[in-house]
Amino acid sequence: MGMTRGFGVDIGGSGIKGGLVDLEAGALDGERLRILTPQPSTPDAVADVVAEIVEKFEWTGPLGVTLPCVVKRGVAHTAANVDKGWIGTDAAELFARRLGKPKEDVVVLNDADAAGIAEMRFGSGRGKDGLVVLLTFGTGIGSALFVDGELIPNTEFGHLEVDGHDAEKRAAASVKEDKGLSWAEWAPRVSRYLNVLEDLIWPDLVIAGGGVSKKAEKWLPLLEVRTEVVAAALKNDAGIVGAAVAATQGLRH
Ligand code: BGC
Repeated sequence: MGMTRGFGVDIGGSGIKGGLVDLEAGALDGERLRILTPQPSTPDAVADVVAEIVEKFEWTGPLGVTLPCVVKRGVAHTAANVDKGWIGTDAAELFARRLGKPKEDVVVLNDADAAGIAEMRFGSGRGKDGLVVLLTFGTGIGSALFVDGELIPNTEFGHLEVDGHDAEKRAAASVKEDKGLSWAEWAPRVSRYLNVLEDLIWPDLVIAGGGVSKKAEKWLPLLEVRTEVVAAALKNDAGIVGAAVAATQGLRH
């Protein structure tokens, strides 16, 4: 009996990462390949990189791809931290055409939704029912909302207005970096953001993802919030794993 494998590609503002996924273990099967995101990150330039990655692994099955955008039925509708040319682009159709695959074989979804799918299935959200929110702290803030394990797609909680500002402009990990904030200086910004979020949706659990989840012990203890907050378990690979799961399930919403 062969292992069930899938393939995922995670498109971010700085890197495009892809690899084979062991769908039973919820982990990469071998190395992942990371290529710098072309600048400007136009749809055609990004599609070339996606094709390069898929071809390198000689993958021919269903393909899952994430975008840092609202994605409905394969079409991108926003582009907060990526080239504006994505808005209105049928990404599923673009990747399918570039790869010579049928469109049904390509599933495109929001990057945080993909990470959330992986965390709920294999990571910190496993077996958690009720209202669970995964937040990815990176260049922006991504969100994925689950009710009893089921995804409510495209929530975009990173763009809540907090004290008159777009939340991700105050509390993303990139803000910590750009302003040279210490953990103790950044954590209150995250607390303030989470306070607004928890007053609006009353989650049972928040899963903190993104690169900074690797240093969770530095900042999770500093948060002053009502909701339980745990670190994501899958770290950098959650997007790839979740994309592969979504493709295998033929997820389209
Ligand atoms: C975008 C989201 C995305 C998040 C993380 C936000 O700026 O609006 O769609 O999930 O960044 O990349």
